[in-house]
Amino acid sequence: MTAFQALARKWRPRSFSELVGQEHVVRALRNALESGRLHHAYLFTGTRGVGKTTIARILAKCFNCETGLTAEPCGTCAACRDIDGGRFPDMLEVDAATNTKVEEMRELLDNAQYMPVSGRYKVYIIDEVHMLSRSAFNSMLKTLEEPPEHVKFILATTDPQKVPVTVLSRCLQFGLRPMPRELIADRLAHILGEEGIPFEAPALALLAQAAQGSMRDSLSLLDQAVAFGGGRVRAAEVGDMLGTVERQALLGVLQALARQEGGALMRLAQEMAERGLSFDRALQELAVMLHDLALMRAVPGQEVVEDQAALAALAPCWDDPTLQLLYQIAVQSRKDLPLAPDEGAGFRMALLRMLAFQPGTAPSFPAAERSPRADPKAEAPAAAAPAPAQRGEPPADSRPRGVPPSFDDWPGMVQRLSGAGMAHELARHSEMVRYADGALHLLVDAEHRHLLPYKEKLRTALEAMLDADLRLAIDVGPATGQSLAAVEGKENAERQRHAEASIKNDPFVREVTESLGGKLVESTIKPGNGQDQGEHR
Ligand SMILES: Nc1ncnc2c1ncn2[C@@H]1O[C@H](COP(=O)(O)OP(=O)(O)OP(=O)(O)O)[C@@H](O)[C@H]1O
Ligand SMILES: [Mg+2]
Ligand SMILES: [Zn+2]
Repeated sequence: MTAFQALARKWRPRSFSELVGQEHVVRALRNALESGRLHHAYLFTGTRGVGKTTIARILAKCFNCETGLTAEPCGTCAACRDIDGGRFPDMLEVDAATNTKVEEMRELLDNAQYMPVSGRYKVYIIDEVHMLSRSAFNSMLKTLEEPPEHVKFILATTDPQKVPVTVLSRCLQFGLRPMPRELIADRLAHILGEEGIPFEAPALALLAQAAQGSMRDSLSLLDQAVAFGGGRVRAAEVGDMLGTVERQALLGVLQALARQEGGALMRLAQEMAERGLSFDRALQELAVMLHDLALMRAVPGQEVVEDQAALAALAPCWDDPTLQLLYQIAVQSRKDLPLAPDEGAGFRMALLRMLAFQPGTAPSFPAAERSPRADPKAEAPAAAAPAPAQRGEPPADSRPRGVPPSFDDWPGMVQRLSGAGMAHELARHSEMVRYADGALHLLVDAEHRHLLPYKEKLRTALEAMLDADLRLAIDVGPATGQSLAAVEGKENAERQRHAEASIKNDPFVREVTESLGGKLVESTIKPGNGQDQGEHR
């Protein structure tokens, strides 16, 4: 049985001609090699999985191939084979991420003065060089300044900004580029062809997009796709494979957002980056989920396509205007993505914006196992919700059975009416006219007459809450401002003014707003409760 070998390792290019993309680097290196003008230190920079280590090893062969210094190492001589096999005595590969200590660096460099054992040059490949400690850098610097003739340094890093300029200035620097999607897809097609694995071309396009410019990530995803598809690569299955991972990650993102856990949010974004998920797709999917959430709140009982239960549990966490805003941020950030320093940064900023712009959010998130309510809105910790002290009260009045209920504080009673969905909306817009002999008379203004079909539902909800039989009549007529909605409207208008003023003056919000293109949607500013009033989160 042959051991499983990851495609990324198996298909590491062994010559410049096998390498995909990075022509600008290859051309410069070829020229230098062919003209014999060699530098003693090279630095390759670029994001993960774009060929830094690969090029470093090819270059080591160019230096040491037994056919002579060449841009086309033979690949068959002992030196080429030993370098490919990682056992060439004159090639030292150091992973600076794990060998950051100055002693190790010094020991390594002390060896540099001795002549190579079997090759032409001693080649030091120092990967992730930005991870070296300052003192390790310093001890390297001496050798970099006056390197022995027989020594070549090849440094690689994903983060050149962290490499001291003194080191940078002594290296010939090459910036590797992220892999274009088409090149990745072509490479995957080539590899699958060689491996005899059947595939659908659109599946490779999906993988290439998800890989975010990293050839290694595309190959890891391809490994998964082959396993997932049982030896073939189909578009639908790849879509599923990428999609399910992403949906789960995004549900986590929404939950962290609801709990206002910035740390968890950033961790999730990091995990998504490590799994090579596409941030463009993630923002798109996030917008879909926010849309579904808004829909569930607007139309209680609305079925959505995916993750019904998980989304239903989340629906109470935001009020409608906040959801609108979060949706806008997702859509807008997607447009901004090409302008972001990199997609990961663009995605993180989007999440931080969402975190900053949750003015109407309650600090608590319902336990994940809680069964979804029939109507999420009834539990919505919106700004208009009752004060915290009232929120935890049991819905039933503590009135002994048989004693007729009192409707004197009708707005207060409506506040306590929960789990009634649109019936609750009807109650919110209704005024109490009179109550006599078990019959409650309400008045709703013409603007809200569309809520009348929920009358029977409201009656049942009131009966349940009061634990008493009730008849209910609702007239349509001119309102006098006594409904809960009207009372809250008046209070909110005042608090809204206050909230808008303070949110606009908040320096952090101002900065974020400017990066959003100067658009703060004022109707989405929601004053918080009590002492939180006017705070933006
Ligand atoms: N330009 C490329 N052409 C073909 N394959 C590539 C290329 N770049 C990367 N790969 C594939 O990805 C794998 C990893 O590449 P490599 O180790 O060179 O990446 P790297 O840039 O050093 O990444 P890291 O920063 O993660 O170390 C290779 O084994 C190879 O299969
Ligand atoms: Mg590498
Ligand atoms: Zn050779």
